[in-house]
Amino acid sequence: MSMDEVKPLRLLLVEDNPGDARLLQEELKEVSSARFEVRHVTRMAEALAAVGEPGLDVVLLDLSLPDGHGLSNIERVVQAAPALPLVVLTGTDDEQLAMRAVHAGAQDYLVKGQVTGPLLVRALRYAIERKRAEEGLKREEAARETALFREQFLGILGHDLRNPLQAISGNAALLLRYGGLSEPQRKALNRISISSDRMARMISDILDFTRTRLGGGYTLQRTWMNVHEVLNQVVEELEVAHPQKRFELSVSGTGWGEWDADRVAQAASNLVGNAVQYSPEDSAVRVVARDEGDGVRVEVHNLGTPIPDERLQHIFDPFVRGRDGTRSGSRSGLGLGLYITNEIVKAHGGVLQVRSTETEGTCFWLKLPRHPPTAAKA
Ligand SMILES: Nc1ncnc2c1ncn2[C@@H]1O[C@H](COP(=O)(O)OP(=O)(O)OP(=O)(O)O)[C@@H](O)[C@H]1O
Ligand SMILES: [Mg+2]
Repeated sequence: MSMDEVKPLRLLLVEDNPGDARLLQEELKEVSSARFEVRHVTRMAEALAAVGEPGLDVVLLDLSLPDGHGLSNIERVVQAAPALPLVVLTGTDDEQLAMRAVHAGAQDYLVKGQVTGPLLVRALRYAIERKRAEEGLKREEAARETALFREQFLGILGHDLRNPLQAISGNAALLLRYGGLSEPQRKALNRISISSDRMARMISDILDFTRTRLGGGYTLQRTWMNVHEVLNQVVEELEVAHPQKRFELSVSGTGWGEWDADRVAQAASNLVGNAVQYSPEDSAVRVVARDEGDGVRVEVHNLGTPIPDERLQHIFDPFVRGRDGTRSGSRSGLGLGLYITNEIVKAHGGVLQVRSTETEGTCFWLKLPRHPPTAAKA
């Protein structure tokens, strides 16, 4: 790389003594291996305004200025620009002051009268490098903290909340099986059982949400599977739970592909479950799987009140749900179903889309490429 390709370093020189300032700038010019663009100011007030603007690489700061003196100068600059490398200039060779300057946030310390060009350039460059390393460490630390928080949160959801809940639903099931209960007792137990199942589902949705939001993401367990079989299963399960509902499932072509069967089932169950939940009692829910050659397309259709346009725009965001809920809101969920479904589809390299109108009702459809993207020919 030739010299003139090297970008000049932008230095803010804060020095009120004109003689010192001139000397420093001349020393910098002497060094041929580095180019500096120097901006010179003489007061703290100007310095604090200048460090707020973008584009500076490093600051060279005198510790005795007309409007600021000593270590407080450092603190003020650091507060105004925490990420900017800072080298301090002082009139006295004082080891203790040097240490305190570094503690206050400076990366290096130079004594006036002992400064030569090469020394100055090296101090400025080291300051930039040191600051970069410090910032890198800070970022690592923040990432570690997020990871720790994520682990704790997943632990609370996955064990601390799930285990007692399993005890509740397990024991409710046990009591129901023992029998010998009066009808009101049986009903109460049934409600305990249904509610705890619902809560367990919510917890696993929040677990999924936490996984996708706080890093980690989905790790897919891809196997060679048939999406037609999955749709059959999902529809059958919902048929049992909603005997009054009509389900129309039609599939064509091949449904084979390399997908994560559990995740695809979860996505399909969210969409078909929504279609059941948000359509009139006696209407039909239609599920169609089409063979599109290198992928499949699955459509889930229902009639009923369409999703309003303003909500449709954010429908795949987490925690978006209908304001009204259904009957006292007791059946409405967390608003995570579509978010999770979209994340699952995206993880497979597919897309999820929706259309909702008064006349045609609501249709969600997803397209899944049959193979992972990396399997494509290079
Ligand atoms: N097929 C549909 N027809 C009409 N409205 C729908 C349909 N699917 C979703 N919606 C609307 O979109 C909202 C968000 O759906 P989503 O599945 O993300 O959350 P939810 O069903 O409210 O709760 P969760 O799925 O987390 O239990 C729903 O509350 C509902 O208002
Ligand atoms: Mg839902």
